[in-house]
Amino acid sequence: MIMIDGKQTSQTIRNEIKVAVEKLKKEGKQIPGLAFILVGNNPASVSYVTGKGKACEEVGFYSVTERLPAETSETDVLALVQKFNNDSAIHGILVQLPLPKHIDEQKVIEAINPKKDVDGFHPINVGKMMIGLETFYSCTPFGIVELLKRYNINPSGKHVVVVGRSNIVGKPVANMLLQKKEWANAVVTVAHTGAKDISYYTKQADILIAAVGKPNAITADMIKEGAVIIDVGINRIDDVTKKTGFRLVGDVDFENVKEKSSAITPVPGGVGPMTIAMLLVNTLKAAENSNQ
Ligand code: GUN
Repeated sequence: MIMIDGKQTSQTIRNEIKVAVEKLKKEGKQIPGLAFILVGNNPASVSYVTGKGKACEEVGFYSVTERLPAETSETDVLALVQKFNNDSAIHGILVQLPLPKHIDEQKVIEAINPKKDVDGFHPINVGKMMIGLETFYSCTPFGIVELLKRYNINPSGKHVVVVGRSNIVGKPVANMLLQKKEWANAVVTVAHTGAKDISYYTKQADILIAAVGKPNAITADMIKEGAVIIDVGINRIDDVTKKTGFRLVGDVDFENVKEKSSAITPVPGGVGPMTIAMLLVNTLKAAENSNQ
């Protein structure tokens, strides 16, 4: 069984980006700039944005974080997005989701200039991705594809079963992996809460991508011997032995599933760090596009 190390792979990519930033600097070009907008105090969101900001610093990007109170109006969030749209030092804009209920998330996403949409959430970029055009791929699906590439796991002709149909992970990763490209070309099934028996689908997976958002949603009896398991879940569960009072687990019953799999991503240290690495990749690309 191969442990797919997202932490190390992410570090390798960050090092590659550091080198690319140095090169931009030497050539007298602008360094990539990324703006974060965080509304409210959702602990997971605060932790993600902090992690992403640190990653920017490490690779030499310019970054700004605007932290706004939970009561901020939709108009004010939209105005801030516009400000960053018009800021030539900013190449990428990331509005951390979820937003508070009184703010229309879709409206905010659509306010971002698609050229600065490093999350790949704008409908223009989603549409381009869907028909196989060059665009910003959303970071978690992009990270999964990159992990498979770097571990020489070729999805071509394989049956990929995605569990979950979110706009952030399930739908885009399914779409990416079915593209007629050398790093994709899989036969893809998307299983979701509408299925009568999820295990009917998961048992057929050569590559199983779990993006459910529930601990232990995928158990050993639900997978085929030798399957590749990609666990996208990041679930906080109470743990009094930890200083924070919680620990992170994925969607997969890791200890039992790993024995049956040929390769598996751990949580933490699997897909999570890759999401951050691919955000940096997209931001570098946005900056390079603007330098052209
Ligand atoms: N919330 C959970 N994942 C993400 C992500 O990749 N980007 C943004 N903007 N918000 C998220």
